[in-house]
Amino acid sequence: MPTQLLVGPKAPSGKNTIVRRSGTPPSSSLPVPANGRSMANASRRVAASHGAERSRTIRAMPRHEDADPAPGRSAGRAPRNPGGPSVPGEPAPPGFLDSFAWHPEPELLGVRDEAVSREALRAAGAATWEAALDYLYDHAFVRAMGSPAGYAELRRTYFGDAGGPGAAPAIPTSWPELLDEFRARIAPHTVSAWHPRSYGYFTPPPLTASVLGEMLSQVTQQGVDVWHAGPVSAFVEEEVVRWLCDLVGYGPGSFGLLTSGGVMANFIAMALARDVQATRRLGLDRPPRGRDLERLRIYTSDQTHFSIGRAIDELGFPPECLVLVEADDDFRLRGADVAAAVAADRAAGLTPIAISAVAGATNTGSVDAIGELADVATREDLWLHVDAAYGAAARLSARDARRVPDLDRAQSVTVDPHKWFFQAYDIGGLMVRRGADLEAVFGSRRPEYYRSGHAPMPSPEHGGDGDAGHGEAGQLNFWKLGFEGTRRWRALKLWLSWKHLGTAGFGRLVEANIDLAAHLARRVAADPEFEALPAVPPLSVVCFRHRPDGLAEGAELDAHQDAIQAALEESGDGWLSTTRLRGGTWLRAGILNTQATVADVDRLLEHLRVLGRG
Ligand SMILES: Cc1ncc(COP(=O)(O)O)c(C=O)c1O
Repeated sequence: MPTQLLVGPKAPSGKNTIVRRSGTPPSSSLPVPANGRSMANASRRVAASHGAERSRTIRAMPRHEDADPAPGRSAGRAPRNPGGPSVPGEPAPPGFLDSFAWHPEPELLGVRDEAVSREALRAAGAATWEAALDYLYDHAFVRAMGSPAGYAELRRTYFGDAGGPGAAPAIPTSWPELLDEFRARIAPHTVSAWHPRSYGYFTPPPLTASVLGEMLSQVTQQGVDVWHAGPVSAFVEEEVVRWLCDLVGYGPGSFGLLTSGGVMANFIAMALARDVQATRRLGLDRPPRGRDLERLRIYTSDQTHFSIGRAIDELGFPPECLVLVEADDDFRLRGADVAAAVAADRAAGLTPIAISAVAGATNTGSVDAIGELADVATREDLWLHVDAAYGAAARLSARDARRVPDLDRAQSVTVDPHKWFFQAYDIGGLMVRRGADLEAVFGSRRPEYYRSGHAPMPSPEHGGDGDAGHGEAGQLNFWKLGFEGTRRWRALKLWLSWKHLGTAGFGRLVEANIDLAAHLARRVAADPEFEALPAVPPLSVVCFRHRPDGLAEGAELDAHQDAIQAALEESGDGWLSTTRLRGGTWLRAGILNTQATVADVDRLLEHLRVLGRG
């Protein structure tokens, strides 16, 4: 039976509740503020449209005079909320909604008439939030990995007999039906970032302020590219970037931008190393391209994120330009090792241009010796980039900032708020010590349609059309600072979260995760059946493995870790990933979880022991 949305009895607080009546599992009810407007009409309309037959064919758009509104709906602009508030702004033209009458919920499409659409939108929003809460409490806190957990089985469950995607939906479906489909076909089969024993990739449960901020940024639909497309949103991004630059320790003159994640931020950083640093080092009057790149060298460790190598590839460097220097026993890149590699390359006539360090490596959370590397970079005139996508957040804590020192000495730093700032996907970022470098590298093109955001085009003899444009001097246009054109308003959710928690609040969340990781490592160290590598976690990642008696080092022990990981996944009681360290397979717990407690960590370890004993 499909879900129906009804307005429930008035709660003592004077709030209405929307109750879900359906054949699906019982749900909590959502308080909806009563603001003097009746929700009944809109809710009943949504409920009624839910029953609309799905096979209904799309009618041609009716002309105003012969409009054929859907049953139960009046034609034209007849107010559907008689006695409701006056409608601010421009009234919708007569028959406006009729042009959407081919859909069971025209008021969710043609939304400009508040008297018609506001309550319908409120009901649809409340129903959607209710589905989100059902997801949380019926699934996300129940299983860390949805069921079935296996790839082939889940494909069969999702796609059915077809075995793969079918044709795109040709006809409309009502919103309540779609929420039912989300509840039935999707929600039970997700990995859960919320589960208190979910310690997987760097996927935190998003803060409420971040989720709600994402909704606001989507409704306002600001494009933070050319300034006019998102006027105040550019300033909100500027403000958040300033806060992130401050966190890194950068002073005036620094700037940055938000990106889809660390991969894009690292790509932009490597583009800066090529076009700013290498141009200068090679004494060119244009950025190096093609064969210019062959003799350049960039140093990084064997623990670096794969995106550094990918960036080097896509930026046109031959593969040998990336020099992998072995990390030390604690998985840290050390200054002396890089200095030796640089000296050898210089002796061979090559041109070192950059070091790419990591602060909070994906595998173990290791933090390269940034101070030592900064000394080498200064001495050798190299660009120092630090990928602190995960680790920079430790600086939110006064107690733990010392774990990620010296970021201010780098020329560029990647910081990914969708990791340890507990942000909804996506939001990454690159901070640059000399912020002007971004526009110098990315801002040379002059797209005609962005003419409100750039200085005069050069005269025809210089390849332009002489258009004066009409952007103001110094205007903030993010399309000039990075790779993307249309850009999501990523800043708003972080801006809201930061204000909601304060830096000190963020710091507490980070500290709690560091404490949990330390606890897990201590439990592992005290337990002869387990071992950790490294023994003391640098941040909140713990790599460890189960070593029961009788299992040989090598393939047998590796397969054992994979088997435990799969068994845990199947059980739904927690989630961990695996990685490879020094040629062996290890369980990897990345603890970025606001919902986890010491008891959860203990329970996970006990569960792994039971699974490991088979
Ligand atoms: C250290 C580090 N850098 C960069 C990235 C890439 O970030 P994203 O996948 O969000 O683009 C990751 C992802 O885990 C990471 O751990």
